Amino acid sequence: MTDMRDEVLEQFADFTGHEADGLWSAPGRVNLIGEHTDYNGGFVLPFAIDRRTLVALGTREDGMLRVASTFSDEVVELPLGDLAAAQAAGQLRGWAAYPLGVAWALGAVGADLAAVPGADILIDSNVPVGAGLSSSAAIESAVALALNDVWQLGFSRETLARVGQRAENDAVGAPTGIMDQSASLLGAQDAAVFLDCRSLDARVVPLGFEAAGLTILVMDTGVQHAHSTGGYGERRASCEAGAAALGVETLREISIDELDRAGRLLDDVTFRRVRHVVTENQRVIDTVALLESTGPATIGSLLDASHRSLRDDFEVSVPELDLAVETALDNGAIGARMTGGGFGGAAIALVPIEGVSRLQVAVDGAFAEHGFGVPTTFTVRPSAGATRES
Ligand code: GLA
Repeated sequence: MTDMRDEVLEQFADFTGHEADGLWSAPGRVNLIGEHTDYNGGFVLPFAIDRRTLVALGTREDGMLRVASTFSDEVVELPLGDLAAAQAAGQLRGWAAYPLGVAWALGAVGADLAAVPGADILIDSNVPVGAGLSSSAAIESAVALALNDVWQLGFSRETLARVGQRAENDAVGAPTGIMDQSASLLGAQDAAVFLDCRSLDARVVPLGFEAAGLTILVMDTGVQHAHSTGGYGERRASCEAGAAALGVETLREISIDELDRAGRLLDDVTFRRVRHVVTENQRVIDTVALLESTGPATIGSLLDASHRSLRDDFEVSVPELDLAVETALDNGAIGARMTGGGFGGAAIALVPIEGVSRLQVAVDGAFAEHGFGVPTTFTVRPSAGATRES
């Protein structure tokens, strides 16, 4: 990270000809449990990881926003005064839609964009893209925190999470929930964020993986997914249709006891979507209770049940994710599940530290045997949320 920080500051100086005003960072996340519950007003339990996006930023007097990154040659420029029109016309596109979308969304939640200076923004990241580890939320959270500081807006981290979500929903066009940005902004070392997505109450829950001799192995299938197209929006629509048919605002209002009634009222597919969400909410509550009583070694069966529910009821897994999970469970993992929105991306395994290499070899072998693409596996540490670095 130190090297990466120095490099970004040097690149900023090359890009602008002067020093940055500061450096900010925000992490990607792994969702431990609570999948496809956030946009249903439910519970989630993600943690911030030790993979981060860095943002070097310096203000400018001419009212221009200029964004550059280490992952693209493109430099995108836009006067602050044109942001709202560009957003409304759907002109914020590609990777620049994330930082520019955040600047626009800060205006949408009340910042006076006519009264703030322009900015040069340089972005670097080691959060893998397309792995379901929220590389986009890491960019949004780092940029939101940086602009909040230099523009002296004084928004809370909860508001900045909503700003990131609005950028994602209204500028990028992905109808995602509030989980990823909340994890990135509210995460803490060695802990998960227990978030109630209805009230937005958040509580940090210690994980204690290392003390228990455990770690999380991420198994990135390499299967690319995008939530601005396809299945994600369709699943969200099914959940909303299910809630409407059951006469509630969100599926959060439905308890496990009410599933029998739901089964009589709903068609089979909608019922299974609803059953996933309702049972997943309970699994999050149960996971928190176990973490706080018997510790992380006892949550494995809840992770497994979450995966089965996502595979069979919500149908957002893919054969590569299922294989990663099965291989993990056959090779010493305590529990395993896909993480993130699905349709590709990564699975996680909770595994004894000394069993990591064996599991990595097993996953590589299983993917080769099935003729799947080469997976990437690495451990992650529950880490601090977004911060000003310098
Ligand atoms: C993606 C979205 C989140 C959440 C998950 C599924 O990561 O960005 O808001 O809905 O999918 O749990």
